[in-house]
Amino acid sequence: MRHLVLLPVAAGIFLIPTACTVAEAEKMGDPKFPLDYHPVLPQYGPNTGQIAAGRATGKALEQPIQFSHFVHASELGIDCQYCHSEARRSIHSGVPPMQACMGCHQYVKLESPEVQKIHDHWCGQPKCTVRKDEFGQPIREANAKPIPWQKVHDLPDYVHFNHSRHIAGGLNCTECHGQVQLQGQYRLEPIPGDAEGRKYRVVDEVMIREATLQMGWCLDCHRNHPSIDKNYGEAADLRRAELKDCWTCHK
Ligand code: HEC
Ligand code: HEC
Ligand code: HEC
Ligand code: HEC
Ligand code: HEC
Repeated sequence: MRHLVLLPVAAGIFLIPTACTVAEAEKMGDPKFPLDYHPVLPQYGPNTGQIAAGRATGKALEQPIQFSHFVHASELGIDCQYCHSEARRSIHSGVPPMQACMGCHQYVKLESPEVQKIHDHWCGQPKCTVRKDEFGQPIREANAKPIPWQKVHDLPDYVHFNHSRHIAGGLNCTECHGQVQLQGQYRLEPIPGDAEGRKYRVVDEVMIREATLQMGWCLDCHRNHPSIDKNYGEAADLRRAELKDCWTCHK
């Protein structure tokens, strides 16, 4: 939605019948074509130019639950696609459904106020106790409310992006999203009012977006990625030409 105003500009360009190449776009030298260099493998860490979602507006993005990729993907070693199972199948990889969380958190760390929040969404009311059916499975109440995760990545609607094509080509999540498994470092805080003095995790840094998601970022990789030679052999140049054609990303 961000660039809706520019849609007529883009549409105008696409009406030109000849294939529009990157070289032509570069020649135009128009600031509307951000072809600046973006590293294919962004580095994680302070002062590496990473963009925190929301930071551009000076406001840190607040997530509804203190979820940590570091805990789940590094400490527990859960596979990215266990939670983001749509990535290899569809355009969107999507945030995980509550069911994925409840699979573990119907049993795990029940004393944590943050895990209680998952249960509250599952029941659709605060301070609830999850009911179980005769097989011991948690009953999803009729007024369950999906967890309102804030979007970290969001391309303008006029850009066509497809996760499954990239995953099928053999790309790793980290090539575009950076070291997600290191994000969500936490500190331990005492659980308020807990008689046993137990602690829970407070996430110090929410999930951040590492890539610019600008056109130049996509194009740099489409020009250089080694998988293209590997997957297409003699047809690699043809494939590269296809991958920089305007129509590939703007239908
Ligand atoms: C080629 C680069 C690339 C690779 C590889 C990639 N992603 Fe993404 N991902 C993106 C882009 C670009 C977006 C933004 C899409 C949008 O806004 O439409 C995105 C969005 C997402 C989102 C937000 C929800 C959505 O689908 O829009 C999740 C979750 C996600 N990616 C997870 C993953 C996981 C997990 C993997 C590995 C299995 C992965 N991505 C691999 C580029 C990539
Ligand atoms: C495969 C099992 C598994 C899945 C799936 C899972 N978690 Fe966890 N989660 C854990 C374990 C284990 C811990 C660490 C528990 C401990 O320290 O005792 C944890 C910790 C947490 C914590 C920190 C609790 C605290 O206070 O220290 C939160 C919050 C959390 N998970 C949220 C989620 C959410 C949200 C989802 C779904 C997107 C999810 N988890 C999916 C196993 C899982
Ligand atoms: C236990 C479940 C779980 C695992 C495992 C997991 N994620 Fe996530 N992921 C989530 C949840 C929940 C969110 C939404 C909250 C947030 O943004 O922190 C999310 C958000 C994301 C997003 C941003 C989505 C957006 O809004 O644009 C990306 C990208 C992503 N994950 C990639 C990965 C990658 C890469 C891995 C493997 C290293 C991974 N995830 C492993 C649960 C998980
Ligand atoms: C890290 C490298 C990398 C980045 C970054 C990247 N791509 Fe790709 N993309 C590829 C590769 C490699 C392929 C070819 C996969 C194959 O065919 O094996 C591809 C394929 C595609 C395709 C499928 C074309 C088709 O017709 O089959 C689309 C669409 C696409 N990319 C859009 C984008 C967009 C939009 C962005 C930026 C938001 C982007 N890509 C960023 C590497 C990347
Ligand atoms: C690999 C994918 C890809 C290809 C190929 C591609 N674009 Fe883009 N284009 C994008 C992305 C992603 C954006 C969004 C950039 C942003 O939000 O900064 C974009 C934005 C634009 C915009 C809006 C500019 C702005 O700043 O809002 C125009 C116009 C445009 N592209 C034209 C073209 C033309 C002409 C071509 C062919 C020379 C082309 N694109 C090829 C991915 C691509």
